[in-house]
Amino acid sequence: WACLSAGLGAAVHVLDDKRGLGSEFDGIGGLSGGGATSRLLVNYPEPYRSQILDYLFKPNFGASLHILKVEIGGDAQTTDGTESSHMHYENDENYFRGYEWWLMKEAKKRNPNIKLIGLPWAFPGWIGCGDDWPYTCPDKTAYYVALWIHGAKVYHNLDIDYVGIWNERAYNKKYIQLLRYTMDKMGLEQVKIIASDNLWEPISSSVLQDSELYDVVNIIGAHYPGTLSSTNAKKTQKKLWSSEDYSTVNDNVGGGCWARILNQNYVNGNITSTIAWNLVAGYYKELPFGRDGLMTADEPWSGHYEVQSPIWITAHTTQFTQPGWHYLKTVGHLQKGGSYVALTDGKGNITIIIETMTHDHSICIRPTLPPFNVSQQNVTFMLQGSFKHIETLKVWHSKFDFFKNSSNFFTQLNEIKLVNGSFSLELKLDEICTITTISTGNRGSFPEPPASKPFPREYSDDFNVETPPFSEAPNFADQTGVFEYFINYQDPGDHVFTLRQVVTQRPITWASDADQTISIIGDYKWKDLNVTCDVLIEKANTGGVFVAGRVNEGGQDVRHAPGLFFWIFANGKYTVTNDLPGKIVLASGLSGTRAGTWHTLTLSIKDNSAYGLLNGNLLWNGVRVLQPHNGWAAIGTRTFELAQFDNFRVQAS
Ligand code: GAL
Ligand code: CA
Repeated sequence: WACLSAGLGAAVHVLDDKRGLGSEFDGIGGLSGGGATSRLLVNYPEPYRSQILDYLFKPNFGASLHILKVEIGGDAQTTDGTESSHMHYENDENYFRGYEWWLMKEAKKRNPNIKLIGLPWAFPGWIGCGDDWPYTCPDKTAYYVALWIHGAKVYHNLDIDYVGIWNERAYNKKYIQLLRYTMDKMGLEQVKIIASDNLWEPISSSVLQDSELYDVVNIIGAHYPGTLSSTNAKKTQKKLWSSEDYSTVNDNVGGGCWARILNQNYVNGNITSTIAWNLVAGYYKELPFGRDGLMTADEPWSGHYEVQSPIWITAHTTQFTQPGWHYLKTVGHLQKGGSYVALTDGKGNITIIIETMTHDHSICIRPTLPPFNVSQQNVTFMLQGSFKHIETLKVWHSKFDFFKNSSNFFTQLNEIKLVNGSFSLELKLDEICTITTISTGNRGSFPEPPASKPFPREYSDDFNVETPPFSEAPNFADQTGVFEYFINYQDPGDHVFTLRQVVTQRPITWASDADQTISIIGDYKWKDLNVTCDVLIEKANTGGVFVAGRVNEGGQDVRHAPGLFFWIFANGKYTVTNDLPGKIVLASGLSGTRAGTWHTLTLSIKDNSAYGLLNGNLLWNGVRVLQPHNGWAAIGTRTFELAQFDNFRVQAS
C-alpha cells in the first residue's frame, strides 16, 4: 500500500525536460580513510570479505557506489587509526603499503566505471622541510601527492579521477597551482582538483577573486553542508560537492539522515555529489565514531558483518542513475514536507527519488537540523517533454518503522501505469520511493553471515609471513606510528619475520597523535590478561618499547590513552605507567635492557594487581591497578623510532 497510486486532487509536480536540464549529477560515494576505517575489513576470511565488497560496489546488487574516495595515507592518526604513507622517508617510495590500493582494485573489479578520489589528511614529517606544515615546500608536497596518483597507475593500473588538497585544513594557492603543474608534467592532466574539503568559504571567494586559482580548481568540495551551499559557492559556477557527509551511526536514524541529504543536498544546495564518511565501519567499535559507516564489518575473527539501512538507501539513487546523468530543472520540496529529485540519462530514461523523512528520524551528526514538518500526503507527477509517452514505471520502496521494528528496505512494488502521462502517490511518513524506467534494479543478498563473536581470548602472531597480502599484521590497529611486516635477512633464525614500527619523525598531523607510537589489538572489554611479546629496541641509548593491557582510548583521543604500560628502555631501565605519555609512573627500576638485543616482555594483569616478566623472570610485582578497568592490548615505542616485535601472544580471561 506504499508509494501506491492515489486518487486525484493531489499537488501536481511537472517533470519536464523541454526547457533544458538542471545540473549534471556526479555520483554518490563512500570514503575509506580519514582514517583507518577499513582496517578490519581486509582481514575478513572469504567468502565474507567478497560479500561485503559486493554489497558496497557491485552494480545492481547493494549500494552500487559510483565513487570511492580514499585517504592518501600520511603515517598519522586521522580519526580511527593511522594509514601508511607511500613515502615514509624522503628517499623512500613504496606503493604496496596499506589497503587502499587493494580496496580501489576490488571496487574497480566490480564496477570498472567507479570514480576514484584521493585526499591527504596528514603528511610524513619530511614534507615540511623542517616545519610542521605542508606548504613550506609546496613543490615537495605536490610531487609527493602526484607520485601517489602516478603510483596508482603504474603499480595498480588505477586511474585516479580526482584529488583533494588537505582535509579540513588550510589550502594554499601556490600549492594548488603546483599540484596542477606537477600532475600535468607527469601526464596526469585528466585528474581533476577538488578544493578545499572544508567549508564553502574561504575557498569560494578565493576562487572568485583569483582567476589563476579559478582555472585550477575544478570542484568546490565542502563537508557536512547541511544540504546548503553559499551564494559565493554558487557564483563560482563550479560543480559543488558534499565531499564528506553523513558520519552518523548506521541505525535507522542514520539511514534516514542519508535518505534526506541524498535528495536535499541537490534540492537545497545544488550539490551534485555526496560522499559518506565512512564507506564501511571496519574499525574497533569503541574507537571514535563507532559504526558511522554505510554498513558494519568490524569482526574479521567471526566473519560477522551487518548490512544496515544506509546501504539500501544508497541503492535507491545509485542503481537507477549514473554520473553523467542530469537532474531535471523540476525538482524540489513536496507540499507537506519531504522532497523529490528527478534525473535523466538524456536518452529517454527517467528516475524519480522521493523521500518523506521526518525531522527526528533523519538527524545527522552535524550540523544541527532546523525544525520542519512532514505529513502524509497525496502527490501527482506529470511527465512531459521526452517523458510524455512513458507508459509504465518500476517502483522501489523503503519504509522506516521506528516503532515496531518492521522496517522494509528496497523492495520492488508493482509497476505504475501512467494515465495521460500522470501518476499519483499516497505518501506516508519516513518513506523512500524510486520510480524509474530503469529495469535493472535488484536487491542482492547472501546467506546470513556467521553470528557475532568476541575477539578470541587466546591470540598469537609470529609474523612469519613471507609475502604478506598487506603490510600490516591482522587485527593490529595502529593509533600512532605505522607497524609493518619486516624481514631481518641477517637474523640467525629466531626473528627473521617480525613486525616493525617504521615512522621515525613526527608526521604533519591531522589529529593530536601521541608522542609515542602504539598499535592496539583485541577486545575493548578485556580486563584480566597476559600479554607476551619479543621486542627489539633499535634506537641506542634513548630508545624504548612497551607492551600494554587495558588501553582504554584510541583514535583521535589516543594521545593521553590510559592503560597499563610495561616499558623497557635502551638505558637499562624499566617503568610501569598508567598512561601512554608515561606521566603516571606506578613502578620503575633497573632492567639491564639494551638496544640491539631481543627481550621478551610479559605483562600480567588480574583484578587490581599486575606483574611483569623480563625474559621469563619476574621483574616487578604487586603493582596496584585502580583504573582503567578494561581495554585493548597494545604494543608500541617510546618515541617515533624503529623497533621490532615478534611472537606476540595474548591470553585474556
Ligand atoms: C570529519 C573528518 C573525518 C572524520 C569525521 C567524523 O570531519 O574528515 O576524518 O573524523 O569527521 O565525523
Ligand atoms: Ca617471527
